Amino acid sequence: MKIEVCSDYEAMSKKACGITSDLIKKNKKAFISFPCGDTPALFMDLFSEEVNDKKTDISEAAFISLDEWVGLGEKDEGSCAHFLNAHLFGKLKYNFANKFILNGANKNIEEELRNHEDFFNKYAPLNLSVLGIGLNGHIGFNESGVDISLNSHIIDLDNVTKKVMVKYFGNNFKPTRGITQGINQIMGAETIIVMASGKHKADVVNLVVNGKASNEVPASLLQNHKNCFLILDKDAASNL
Ligand code: F6R
Repeated sequence: MKIEVCSDYEAMSKKACGITSDLIKKNKKAFISFPCGDTPALFMDLFSEEVNDKKTDISEAAFISLDEWVGLGEKDEGSCAHFLNAHLFGKLKYNFANKFILNGANKNIEEELRNHEDFFNKYAPLNLSVLGIGLNGHIGFNESGVDISLNSHIIDLDNVTKKVMVKYFGNNFKPTRGITQGINQIMGAETIIVMASGKHKADVVNLVVNGKASNEVPASLLQNHKNCFLILDKDAASNL
């Protein structure tokens, strides 16, 4: 892992945006995936500006969702699709050549899963996977103990994830499962950017960097990736 410690959240977001834009400039047909949540919000706002200012051309690139709460669709505030619309698709003046956004509200969630995996396989491998880190070390919804050989799958949410999720949608929804790219798909990405910001992430970041690489802390598996940038602000790096 190449560790970059930035002065603050804004600097971290700019750094991640710069790497993403450079990668797409070099490979116009890039296949990319972004996460949702508090961490990537500014990164995505900045990336949207880059595209709208015609500094980065996404007209030949393809995008796929990393994950989604089972039961939630784009109209549900706090869903990943809602977030992607707020910080990316609702802002962009230009479109990706193709995109697949998970619809967790599909009553036939197995069909949604198949469609996600089919789209993934059509463009695989990812040229870029951007990730955040959960307080339990999850990436996407690959929770502690996940089977690392899995591709797109549906998984029971960890208790830590269930506690944290109220920050996204209060008590309006109580999802118990997530639909996610698997570790096998994520680790197959040519480049990975993983971001973490804030003191509350300092302990898990320390485990991710200095702990044993294991599926108990899924983000620690990134230690074994050949081209992974861990981009932190000072607070998230404060226990390293
Ligand atoms: C969201 C996702 C999750 C988050 C993680 C951190 O699409 O894949 O793994 O990246 O839970 O969330 P925040 O950024 O809200 O701290």
